[in-house]
Amino acid sequence: MNEKQVIILGIETSCDETSAAVLVDGRELKSHIISSQVSTHQKYGGVVPEIASREHCLHIQNVVEQALEQAGYDFTDLSAIAVTYGPGLVGSLLVGVAAAKAMAYAAEIPLIGINHLEGHIYANFLEHKDIEFPFLILLVSGGHTNLILFREHLDYEILGQTRDDAAGEAFDKIARALGLGYPGGPYIQKAAQHGDANAFQFPRTMLEADSLDFSFSGLKSAVLNTMNTAKMKGETLNTADLAASFQAAVIDVLVQKTLRALEMHPVKSLALAGGVAANSLLRESLQTELAKRNLPFYYPSPIFCTDNGAMIAMAGYYRYKAKKYSSWILNAVPALKLAGSDKTEN
Ligand code: KG4
Ligand code: ZN
Repeated sequence: MNEKQVIILGIETSCDETSAAVLVDGRELKSHIISSQVSTHQKYGGVVPEIASREHCLHIQNVVEQALEQAGYDFTDLSAIAVTYGPGLVGSLLVGVAAAKAMAYAAEIPLIGINHLEGHIYANFLEHKDIEFPFLILLVSGGHTNLILFREHLDYEILGQTRDDAAGEAFDKIARALGLGYPGGPYIQKAAQHGDANAFQFPRTMLEADSLDFSFSGLKSAVLNTMNTAKMKGETLNTADLAASFQAAVIDVLVQKTLRALEMHPVKSLALAGGVAANSLLRESLQTELAKRNLPFYYPSPIFCTDNGAMIAMAGYYRYKAKKYSSWILNAVPALKLAGSDKTEN
């Protein structure tokens, strides 16, 4: 074993995926295991926290063992264990945090608590090692919608956030109302493929001229009102048209706000992060705009956009290099904020 290698085990259990990954020197992903609970929660139309927690308890040991086995390492080879400690569901977070603590303590290696949102951002470095700093990030997940200025590793500033629903949350709620599956994003995207994006004129909430914040509740209400009005009149609306028109409205706002942020904050590149980053209309729309501006544009493969242990290992690698370790009293913090490196130490 080469002693200079930095071998990080990353663990993610903040919502409904139990995941573990082994990353070497921040470059080589040796293993990546994801045990998804989607089929368990699908029948309820969303994640049931108590069930999620129990499922994590059932799978965590197996998932970690598989990750180590596939990588060809055991605990004594690891440099550190990185684990998501927030934001997320408390019962889910606690399983990962407790497991990581116990393993790191027994192996006498550092424990590194990771903010889940920082993990999503670091997913970009799994496949793109040389992203030019400073860069702008559009982080769009089920719980968050943020524009973030990333100055250097672990040094970032929130420029804008949602004032109500997150982009992914809006996708999930509308998919549910349309009777599509859970999680809603991929189902809306699929239904929209056969729909007319101009069939319904839904609002694009841009807020104040200099604001980089988002608001999706007006759009959500407009779609629901359209559906209710039609129902009262006994009319049937075309699901594909509704999905396409809704998706176009969300993506329009995300793209316009991102372009506004790029004008206000000159950067060298743009990166996408979070589950909604898997949306192909969002990627294509931004790709077109960024090409016009000659700016590099990065986004993770779909598997690294949604929740995964590899992104946690990658953020853990940079925190390990900066010696930003956590103490043994690390706890789950369900409402953890993304506040920039110096303030997110635990
Ligand atoms: O990042 P993530 O896996 O979990 C959170 O940290 O929230 O994001 C999940 C969100 C869900 O709201 C899901 O509907 C959305 O990402 N999503 C998508 C797509 N794939 C996942 N939204 C739009 N288009 C997609 N293709
Ligand atoms: Zn996430």
